[in-house]
Amino acid sequence: MSPVKPGVKHYLQFKDLSRDEYDYLFERTRWIKAQFKSYQPYWPLSDRTLVMIFEKASTRTRLSFEAGVQQLGGAAIYLNTRDSQLGRGEPVEDAAQVISRMSDLIMIRTFEQGIVERLASNSRVPVINGLTNEYHPCQIMADIYTYIEQRGPIQGKTVAWIGDSNNVCNTWLQAAEVLDFNVNVSTPPGYEIEAERAGLYGTGHFKEFADPMEAARGADIVTTDVWTSMGFEAENAERMRDFADWQVDAEMMRVAQPNALFLHCLPAHRGEEVSAEVIDGPQSVVWDEAENRLHVQKALMEYLVLGRVKV
Ligand code: CP
Ligand code: NVA
Repeated sequence: MSPVKPGVKHYLQFKDLSRDEYDYLFERTRWIKAQFKSYQPYWPLSDRTLVMIFEKASTRTRLSFEAGVQQLGGAAIYLNTRDSQLGRGEPVEDAAQVISRMSDLIMIRTFEQGIVERLASNSRVPVINGLTNEYHPCQIMADIYTYIEQRGPIQGKTVAWIGDSNNVCNTWLQAAEVLDFNVNVSTPPGYEIEAERAGLYGTGHFKEFADPMEAARGADIVTTDVWTSMGFEAENAERMRDFADWQVDAEMMRVAQPNALFLHCLPAHRGEEVSAEVIDGPQSVVWDEAENRLHVQKALMEYLVLGRVKV
């Protein structure tokens, strides 16, 4: 667990919740999604306020948190570095004190994981990691929910991660430990995973492959992400060269399981980390995956604010 104030439950990395809690949250997601799809109002967070802090760009995360809290009866306030005192050097500890006296929940997208931890350590209310350089836990919750929804339990399955050992990859690796599945990772030389940075307990749930085709062979999920994440733009030209052989294409999907799913957190760059044929093809579930950000995060917000509700 992260070093945070006792008594307040935060979601700063995937392993902050247990398998039992994920089982509960995925069940809750199913119910909340069904209510939403049948236009049944459900407002457990009425009069509650979510503050969203963005220090990096976003489409899906902002939209899904803002729409999600409104659909639960609450309100969202958007802050960014440019327009708030955070961009002018106010310590994150001070911001946490103030923001958490005026709200019920905080979501932050920022750079180092340490910033999120400092925010949480000084917050009276739950803090959610909406992406850091190291992790993107809400994304992987949505990805796993999408797999479960379409194919059933993920325990014992194999995920092929092709490309950069970034925040999304690290979170898949943590999820594999918590939910007991396997990750085959293939990165270009020089971009290998760092188990400590990924926050792993051991090495039992992943295997590294020099050849991306071997990583994809027999996989139940094939997934990738941009070659250059936010904050690493200066390395873009070098990365374009280094990652050229790490594209998920139709040939790679053919060596995976015949019913394998293709996932991508989005935004995607067709012709770089994935071919258009794959992301726009029949095995791709990227739009369901993006939509499920909304549903899983509604379950997560409900849980962090209200705890387990009767099901
Ligand atoms: N996948 C994801 O987090 O998308 P955004 O950067 O648009 O929020
Ligand atoms: N790895 C990407 C994910 C974007 C949602 C980034 O950090 O930019």
